Amino acid sequence: MDYKTQYQMYLSQASAALEDACAKFLPEESEVCRAARYSLLGGGKRIRAVLVLSVCDMLGGDPQTARTFSAAVEMLHCYSLIHDDLPCMDNDDLRRGRPSCHKAFGEATAMLAGDVLLTEAFEAIANAPACPQACVQAAKALGLGAGSRGMVYGQELDLKYEALAATEEQLRLIHRNKTGALINAAVQMGAAAAGADADQCRALEAYAYGIGLVFQIVDDVLDVTSTPEQLGKPIGSDSENGKTTFATLYGVEGAMALAQRVNEKTCSALRETFGEKSAFLEQLAQQLLTRKH
Ligand code: IPE
Ligand code: IPE
Ligand code: MG
Ligand code: MG
Ligand code: MG
Repeated sequence: MDYKTQYQMYLSQASAALEDACAKFLPEESEVCRAARYSLLGGGKRIRAVLVLSVCDMLGGDPQTARTFSAAVEMLHCYSLIHDDLPCMDNDDLRRGRPSCHKAFGEATAMLAGDVLLTEAFEAIANAPACPQACVQAAKALGLGAGSRGMVYGQELDLKYEALAATEEQLRLIHRNKTGALINAAVQMGAAAAGADADQCRALEAYAYGIGLVFQIVDDVLDVTSTPEQLGKPIGSDSENGKTTFATLYGVEGAMALAQRVNEKTCSALRETFGEKSAFLEQLAQQLLTRKH
């Protein structure tokens, strides 16, 4: 199967899993759940879902388990975007090409929609049709990646450094937490669905943080070089908020050259562990480097 076909297959599995999760965990009669559905089903690249599904597939794991986990990580990611856009954080009015959740539903409902997605992500994992050990591992991975030692900590640092000039080292720490940690959670949830061993998990962790760094460098660059139409979210948001980014540190070309180097190292390390089987994940890494939205 070629890369594009395989990618499309994972995307349709992820969409079906998200529809299932909505039916189970986001009842229509609740305004908060309608807001959560609006944000969850309204587009997005589904990178984290595709990571869960493709890692599980590479390791020969159970696809049904991976589907449930893929919906859970996208629910958690979507919560992080809803809160990230709030006026008290990045104050962005556009997300995935549509008014951001608080613009469409008001701030209080958007905040609760984020809360519900965060909570139901863990309920989805606990109810997954999978062996208990896989569910516990997935919940641990998601909690670790999303919380005080992961995404939330990264968001805390990101806000703290708005007022300060961050060095490269500090910026790497922010990116590792705010973006890398949840990407690692996705990859480890795929590994959990396949009962991966410790060596495999370590190699996948290195891959996740490598692509996570590339992903956020590119996100920073696109905030300068893209258009709202292409990106589906506002541009210039980082500079308006006074953020140091890889683009402000090294310029667009310097930042992209760094992303390229990180990407090459990441892919060759993955190949050393998984050989030919790593082809899809390598191509995915390349796509994240050259993406335009
Ligand atoms: C945006 O993530 C937030 C960052 C970590 C930069 P994505 O670019 O994956 O957002 P969607 O899910 O495709 O909308
Ligand atoms: C967000 O980083 C990371 C999250 C944890 C949501 P950004 O603030 O750069 O993401 P965008 O550019 O708004 O998508
Ligand atoms: Mg932000
Ligand atoms: Mg933002
Ligand atoms: Mg950004």
